[in-house]
Amino acid sequence: MKSDFFKYQAQTTPHPLAIEISHAQGSYIYDQNQKQYLDFIAGISANSLGHNHPSVTQSIKNQLDKYTHVMVYGEFIQQPQLELCKILAKNSPKNLDTIYLTNSGTEATEGALKLTKRYTNRSEIIACKNAYHGNTQGAMSVCGAEEQNRAFRPLIPGIKFIEFNNILNLELITTETAGVIIETIQGGAGFIEPQNNYLQKVQQRCNEVGALLILDEIQTGIGRTGTFWGFENYDCTPDIIITGKGLGGGMPIGAFISSNKIVATLKENPKLGHITTFGGHPVIAAAALATVKEITKTDLIHQTLEKEKLIRKLLIHPEIIEIRGKGLMLALMVKNEEFASQIILKCLEKGLLLFWLLFEGKAVRITPPLTISNEEIKKGCAIILEVIDELV
Ligand SMILES: Cc1ncc(COP(=O)(O)O)c(C=O)c1O
Repeated sequence: MKSDFFKYQAQTTPHPLAIEISHAQGSYIYDQNQKQYLDFIAGISANSLGHNHPSVTQSIKNQLDKYTHVMVYGEFIQQPQLELCKILAKNSPKNLDTIYLTNSGTEATEGALKLTKRYTNRSEIIACKNAYHGNTQGAMSVCGAEEQNRAFRPLIPGIKFIEFNNILNLELITTETAGVIIETIQGGAGFIEPQNNYLQKVQQRCNEVGALLILDEIQTGIGRTGTFWGFENYDCTPDIIITGKGLGGGMPIGAFISSNKIVATLKENPKLGHITTFGGHPVIAAAALATVKEITKTDLIHQTLEKEKLIRKLLIHPEIIEIRGKGLMLALMVKNEEFASQIILKCLEKGLLLFWLLFEGKAVRITPPLTISNEEIKKGCAIILEVIDELV
């Protein structure tokens, strides 16, 4: 398949890994030669229950037998969508009980940005340098990575950038500001956690000036960081949550979540304030519902913290400068970009799948399925240590 892949399929980098996939099961992906790869990245934090999880697969099959797409979002009552919205509301702070289901994380970002403008009647958005919120033009406009954005300008106007964790910058949030969008833990920038009650202070400032706080939980949410939502770790509650990735258990979905009062502004003056044909697709919603049920009815969320401890205990090596992140959203920090790349590529040869982060070249991503076993963690960490020893 390789030559056809390069000929017919759009590439996003000059050097894709181009592993030819045969099938995937649990924490493993298999290529056409039946080589197995232990998956330490979960499709970039998307396969929260690993591959081919029986309850996700069965719920997809059951829904396929009933109906697939029947109508654009928000017109008909479809049980998988409704049940998914209810379980998300049940696991969210009290007033965040109205859910708009989208096709992806970036569309959730778009919807949330539009919602802040619509609700506040203001247009200015504040975002963080080095943030990542998606790749459509609105979402790109709030990604603070100029190198990526330059070639696509003009993007949307009226965006101001602040530094993540910089309290002094918060004075840029004013009565002109419609919304502030922040990743709960900055992902692409290097899995940087909020420090010194930063998120609480942002929330406080937003409340003072009447701006809405959007927390991007697309990577941190749905149990990955030891609580259902990542912000629960930092004692802060946003006005709007955006989610995606792990929500679908390997299927494409996103959502923005806010109070009924705020979300209701999208239905009038003008009506159809945000519309989508396939958002909340019943088959995808059924997969997401099964995923959230499995994550919340088991001990998986709590286990992420135990698994984090195990990884931190195992990955001790003079070449590992630091392990950043929380739960099963971890990044190994090493001396330089070349060394990080060597680790990733050598581990791949030995059957362990790791990956890069978007803007931090010295980081190695470890975001396995939440279902990964302790034995699999030990096996993967042993490969990492062996590779580092070989490299030095
Ligand atoms: C924090 C964050 N926000 C938004 C997105 C965009 O989500 P999607 O790729 O589903 O559009 C991502 C994806 O990597 C992400 O990590």
